[in-house]
Amino acid sequence: MFRKLPGDQVSGLVSTTPDTAVVFKPAVVNTPAVLTVFVLAWRLVSGLVKTVIRHPIAASLFVAAGVVWVLYGWAVVAIGLINIMAVLISWRMTDRDSFSRWVGLRLLAFARWFWIYRRHWQPVMIVSGLGRHLRGRDYLPRLVKVTCDDWADHVTIKMMGGQCLKDWTDRADHLAHAFGSPACRVSTLRAGRLVLTLPRRDPLSTPLPAVAVPQEAHVGPVEIGRCEDGSPWRLNLHGTHVLVAGATGAGKGSILWSVIRSLLPAVRAGLVELWALDPKLMELSYGKALFGNRYAAHPHDCADLLDKAVAVMQERAARYAGVRRSHVPTVDDPFILVIVDEVAFLTAYQPDKHLRVRISAALATLTTQGRAVGVGVLAALQDPRKEVISIRNLFPDKIALRLDESEQVDMVLGDGARDRGALADEISPIPAAGAGVGYVRLETSPDPVRVRAAYVCDDDIRAMASDHGSPGEAV
Ligand SMILES: Nc1ncnc2c1ncn2[C@@H]1O[C@H](COP(=O)(O)OP(=O)(O)OP(=O)(O)O)[C@@H](O)[C@H]1O
Ligand SMILES: [Mg+2]
Repeated sequence: MFRKLPGDQVSGLVSTTPDTAVVFKPAVVNTPAVLTVFVLAWRLVSGLVKTVIRHPIAASLFVAAGVVWVLYGWAVVAIGLINIMAVLISWRMTDRDSFSRWVGLRLLAFARWFWIYRRHWQPVMIVSGLGRHLRGRDYLPRLVKVTCDDWADHVTIKMMGGQCLKDWTDRADHLAHAFGSPACRVSTLRAGRLVLTLPRRDPLSTPLPAVAVPQEAHVGPVEIGRCEDGSPWRLNLHGTHVLVAGATGAGKGSILWSVIRSLLPAVRAGLVELWALDPKLMELSYGKALFGNRYAAHPHDCADLLDKAVAVMQERAARYAGVRRSHVPTVDDPFILVIVDEVAFLTAYQPDKHLRVRISAALATLTTQGRAVGVGVLAALQDPRKEVISIRNLFPDKIALRLDESEQVDMVLGDGARDRGALADEISPIPAAGAGVGYVRLETSPDPVRVRAAYVCDDDIRAMASDHGSPGEAV
């Protein structure tokens, strides 16, 4: 492919003698004019065919306008265009959503493909090192298509043979800057094809009010906020354990409280029990009435409560052994959610070694064996390092809120998460802009999803405690 072409050796000729003309005889091959004309015509025709295939509706409109012009004159075309414009304007005014879905976002995608991506594609690919310019020819990844939704552009590309996902994730920053976006997330569509997600605006930039308490009691995934694409963020707690990591002020409290809020009807129906451990005394104590006797703050009490949870778990395991392999929440056997705020206070910073070992062992037992018998752990912590929480990997689901260091992102979400766009260390430390914002990896996809938890304010918690608070029975 990169065979030396005639005349290439010219660039190698150097003369060190001034005033001496370098004498060389480049091999010149005269291309017959007919060949040149044929090549240009071929390019024109193939370009036209590609355009028709890519934009069939726009192409047929052009053809129809041309035919009408020839048959009936330009005035008829002008009247037709005015009518179409009037229909589009009234459509937009009456039903904005369907207009943007069918027309607005498609036009925007075309405009951005033409003006932003196609125009800058070649220089951006070459400068970022994703394409090559060799002997006068460009070898570039292919810009397949651009689609838009109301917050981001999704650019489908075909990689060059020999490239891999990492080549692109390593250059996500270059691409974001080049195309004027605050970030670029790269995900695999299928072998050889990637989708670059380049946000145009941040739909999570303003705090979300608390999600309404559900009408029905259910233990399934609970809605606790919103994903970047506008869909509800539903977190599954039954049958898993969830670790929430975030620096101080990152908004861990809003996740804990949103979960509690969404489970309240199930708690009232007796299908869920909330057991709260609040070693910092600053978070869950505010809604203490919701937990009744299943609340502990002093490390000794926390250890006792955890031991009780382990005892319930083991009793269930003995009962289920050989009878069933999974848990269905019932009034007799409710789903027990053990909520621990700042788990490191109990596992790492606890000065009493005996207590520390006891608590760590209980948490490890719950997280390894609790899933199948209906005991789940939801734990929050500030520092996700292994020295601080050795049982980090026992939590199948993890949420990364604002973190202090970039290395911590992969510690929480797994290898390569930051490369794939989980920029948890770049979340704004200003509470209104960044508290409750984080990244999760949903079960269905390895790509991190940006989310924001709804903010359950003090008044909401007070209202929850007065409406739903009832002292739980002694355990
Ligand atoms: N989801 C949210 N949306 C908007 N603002 C929020 C949200 N969550 C928290 N905040 C704001 O951020 C502040 C800190 O939140 P929070 O106490 O939950 O942080 P934290 O991660 O628990 O911190 P710490 O580790 O110090 O306890 C709150 O007082 C509130 O003003
Ligand atoms: Mg907190």
